[in-house]
Amino acid sequence: MTRNGHADASRRQLLEFLLQSPLLVAATAADTAWARPELAIPESASEALDVFQIERVARGKLDPATIHFIVNGADDGKTLAANRDAFDDWAIRVRRLVDVSRVDLGTTVLGQRLEVPLLLAPVGNQGTIHEGGELATARAARATGHAMIASTMTNAAIADIASAAGSAWFQLYAAPDRRLMEHLIGNAEQAGCPVIALTVDSNVRGNREGERWWSRRPSTGGKPQLALGNFTGFDGPPQIGNPALDWKALEWIRRRVRVKFVLKGIVTREDALLARAAGVDGLIVSNHGGRQEESLRSTLASLPEVVAAVGSDLPVLIDGGIRRGTDIFKALALGARAVCIGRPYLWGLGAFGEEGVARVLVILREELKRIMQFAGTTSIAAIDATRIERR
Ligand code: FNR
Repeated sequence: MTRNGHADASRRQLLEFLLQSPLLVAATAADTAWARPELAIPESASEALDVFQIERVARGKLDPATIHFIVNGADDGKTLAANRDAFDDWAIRVRRLVDVSRVDLGTTVLGQRLEVPLLLAPVGNQGTIHEGGELATARAARATGHAMIASTMTNAAIADIASAAGSAWFQLYAAPDRRLMEHLIGNAEQAGCPVIALTVDSNVRGNREGERWWSRRPSTGGKPQLALGNFTGFDGPPQIGNPALDWKALEWIRRRVRVKFVLKGIVTREDALLARAAGVDGLIVSNHGGRQEESLRSTLASLPEVVAAVGSDLPVLIDGGIRRGTDIFKALALGARAVCIGRPYLWGLGAFGEEGVARVLVILREELKRIMQFAGTTSIAAIDATRIERR
């Protein structure tokens, strides 16, 4: 081979190497980002324009096991997708020539004044997403004026979360051992939680295959289990999830809860009516973010029948797929009194810790305010059924 032939061969090798290199992928992504700024990856929380950008940062930072813990839906993820897609079934009817120089986002739900009708949905094991865990989330919620619902399965204890958040609602899982439920309810009430929400969509565990697969692979981040703060001091088996939970068993739980009592996971008019008869104070329409049953039924599709069933007797909240201020607006127009988010703030936590959670909350609040101004609605109460139509 000639000298030139050698040079050509090594150039070709170098080119082949570069084509396979992640650096080239990154460079291409950077070029695309220049062409479409919304694809850029922000370097700081304050730079982020929407929750999708923050998700992209978190995906780049977290290990596969943690990413799958957050993203997974049940089975083929079709219910997870349905939750998100449902918002595109509705269009907003905006009114013009209204003075929107002042817009009030505040509302009262279950006797609690909320600065914005947007709460943080309960999520366990946040210590696996960021070392700050639930306490970082709680501080961000407090700093931005949002209410937080703390899960039974948190790494921190409810007393510490409530104190970091200023005040927190508590999410309760049913357990076969009533003493464990008494322990959890007692701790939450002692921590001053004004609301306890019993999750009723988790009698068995959803089939989240990605989560199961990746959590067993230590090389990709299958981390040691972290301790769960709410089980400290309980001497029995810390087993939660009870396939025997029914309306009869609910009576027992209802009697023990002295603060406001809410069911999380109601999605039909039939169950909404039974819940009202059982004496609950409120409902959260939820399918656990598509992580439990693969029903293909979105929470937004379930909301109107639940609201119609209970009328003004019970406040109805909703979660699932909310990623934009316009999604919040649509849920309120369909009768929700407030909404909750799960994954968006987990991306914030994974991307930038406490600051990331706060940024997600600020972005969604700004987006809600903007659509309220465009729609001519100066208060949350003004966002009613006249503001929305099926596409
Ligand atoms: C959850 N969710 C949940 N719900 C609950 O009642 N107790 C819990 O411990 C958890 N844990 C949990 C972990 C993870 C990783 C996710 C993504 C979700 C469900 C959560 O409260 C909420 O219903 C959904 O997250 C709402 O849907 P979006 O906003 O994530 O689409």
